This record gives sequence, C-alpha cells and structure tokens, in this order.
Amino acid sequence: MNNKYGVKILGTGSYFPEKILTNADLVKIVETSDEWITTRTGMKERHLSAKDEPTSDIAYKASIEALKASNVKPEEIDLIIVATITPDMLTPSTACFLQTKLGIKNIPVFDLSAACSGFVYALAVAKAFIEVGLYKTILLVGSEELAKFTDWTDRNTCILFGDGAGAMVLRACNEPSDILSVYLGADGAYAGLLDLPGGGTRNPATHDTVNEKMHAIKMLGKDVFKAAVPKMVFAAEKALEFAAKKLEDIKLFIPHQANMRILEAVAKKLEISMERVFVNLHKTGNISSATTITALDEAIKTGRLVKGDLVELVVFGAGFTWGAAVIRV
Ligand code: COA
Repeated sequence: MNNKYGVKILGTGSYFPEKILTNADLVKIVETSDEWITTRTGMKERHLSAKDEPTSDIAYKASIEALKASNVKPEEIDLIIVATITPDMLTPSTACFLQTKLGIKNIPVFDLSAACSGFVYALAVAKAFIEVGLYKTILLVGSEELAKFTDWTDRNTCILFGDGAGAMVLRACNEPSDILSVYLGADGAYAGLLDLPGGGTRNPATHDTVNEKMHAIKMLGKDVFKAAVPKMVFAAEKALEFAAKKLEDIKLFIPHQANMRILEAVAKKLEISMERVFVNLHKTGNISSATTITALDEAIKTGRLVKGDLVELVVFGAGFTWGAAVIRV
C-alpha cells in the first residue's frame, strides 16, 4: 500500500508526580529490604501521584511539555490517543478529560488499553491514521497511576510499580517517516498471569471484591519474567526486519522498564552491550504504558540522543501483549 504521508515526530514531554517512594519507605510498609528490591529488580525509587491528581492531570502536564517542545498549539491537534490501563474512570475516557484540560473541542479522542505495550500500540495506530491521511497532527500519551491499583500488603507487586506520564506530538509530512516500523503481538491465553481482576463485568465491584483486593494488580512474577524475555527479543528482531535495519544501526534501545534483570537478559540474547540500552527504572519503577515515552523524552533531554538517531522501543505487558518500533528522533 502506498502511504499518502510520512510521519514526523515533532517533540516529546514527560511528567512525574512530586512524591517519591524509596525502597527505604517500602521497608516500613512490607517485609522487604533495599538489598532484595535492588538485586531482584534494579529499582530504587518511584513517583506516587497525589490523591486529587488523576491520570488525566499528569497526562496534561506531559502533553503541555510535548506541545511546547513541538511548537504546536492545542488547537492544532486533530486526534488524541491516551494509552492507559489506569484511567480516571471506566468511562468517559481519560482522553476526554485530557481534551477538556487542553481546552480543545470537537476532535476525536480515545483511550487505548494494551497494558505496558500501550505506547507502542498507540504509536502503530497513530502511524496508520497519519499515513492514510485521516489525521494530520496527533497527540499521543502514555499515562499511568499504577500505585492507585496496587495492593500495598503484597510485597511481590507493591515494590514494582509507580506513576508517570509521557507524551509525543506527531504530524503528517511529505518526507520519509520518522516511524520506520512497528511490530505488534498478543496472546490472551496468558491473561491470568498478570491482571487486575475486579471492577469489570467479570467481577463487578462488591464488598467482597474490595475485601479480596481484586481491584489491585495480581501477578505471577516468575512466569511473567520467563515469557517477557523471548517475546521482547522476537519483537525487537521483527521491527528491525520490517524497517530493513540492523542492530548496529540503532543508537539506543529503549525497552519497557519492568525489571533490570529482564533488560539484561534481552540485551544478552540480542548480543548488545548494556551501554546501548536505556535504563531509568531505578528512578521510576514500572510505569506501564508511560515507560518507553518517558525514557525516550529523558534520553532526548539529556543529550543521549541527537536529531537523526535511530531508536528502538521494545515492550511487553499484560495480556500478554508485546511489540517494538524503530523510530528516528
Ligand atoms: N522482598 C523480599 N522478599 C520477597 C519480595 C520482596 N519484595 N517479593 C518476593 N519475595 C520473596 C518471595 O516470597 C520468595 O520467597 P520464598 O522463596 O520463601 O517463597 C522469594 O522472594 C523469591 O521470590 P520470586 O518470586 O521467586 O522472586 P523473583 O526472583 O522471581 O523476583 C519479581 C520477583 C517479581 C521481581 C520478578 O519475578 C519479576 O520482576 N517478574 C517480572 C515482573 C514484571 O516485569 N511484570 C510486569 C511485566 S510488564
């Protein structure tokens, strides 16, 4: 299929809530230690949103930064996609709340749910919409407040998650696309290994679902770990193949920041040194769909990436879902 337009990445932005929860703070909440968390996950601290700071608030702050970096006014946006699994409410979408905060009316907006793979899934949707000429300027957001869906008595999960938001502005152009390729995959047979079982139509909210902590993330960590590594390696290779690029062409790999040991295992299998892998999970924890976009934003702001560099985003999450994208910043 011939594409009408290429896709230009105009700019990125990110926002982390002020409050920081350190490993030392976690030691006061559950039976754990800084040593255990550091050696098993690489995580040191994570940000927690305030009670009165919903997902759309942090999405708004990241979006304003991305719009500034892109030199784009809110009224120039003609579509908003928010990747999130921790929305303000089940309905309306977080994208609707974000739209109002940005002061925009009458454009289509929606949320996309693909767990930790959300941003790369959203990137694929935005790419396709722009290429066929349906929308010209798209605001893409990954925004999560996982800490509000965490069982703070479960040491297996509460050490892992945090809150944060990232945003990107994309625009149609007549040059070669900055999104060279996207590869996506999913297998719903693994749904039970990582889920948030309460509050939907399977388990509508009752006193029992609250008492049984069904409104918090449940995970069989070891099984998730085992599945994540081969799927991320496969996705990374597929997106490179689709982009007709080699590992050596990529300046920086930005994998989903789930666990330092997952990142190291993926790098080892791909035979790339950890110097070429971006890591910020020690400061953020796992922030699901917000991980790759906030990491990308940090890599650009700190000069780790310069204009024209090729980057590969590689993701894996509940579902299971996975994917990768080769992009030019
Ligand atoms: N502090 C101290 N001990 C802990 C602990 C904590 N926070 N959490 C678990 N443990 C204990 C376990 O109870 C277990 O004890 P036992 O042997 O007496 O039963 C022991 O540590 C080992 O637990 P295990 O689950 O085997 O550890 P692990 O090496 O698999 O690490 C995870 C656990 C969760 C860090 C790891 O499996 C992981 O990161 N998985 C992937 C998770 C992920 O990325 N999910 C999101 C994907 S998008």
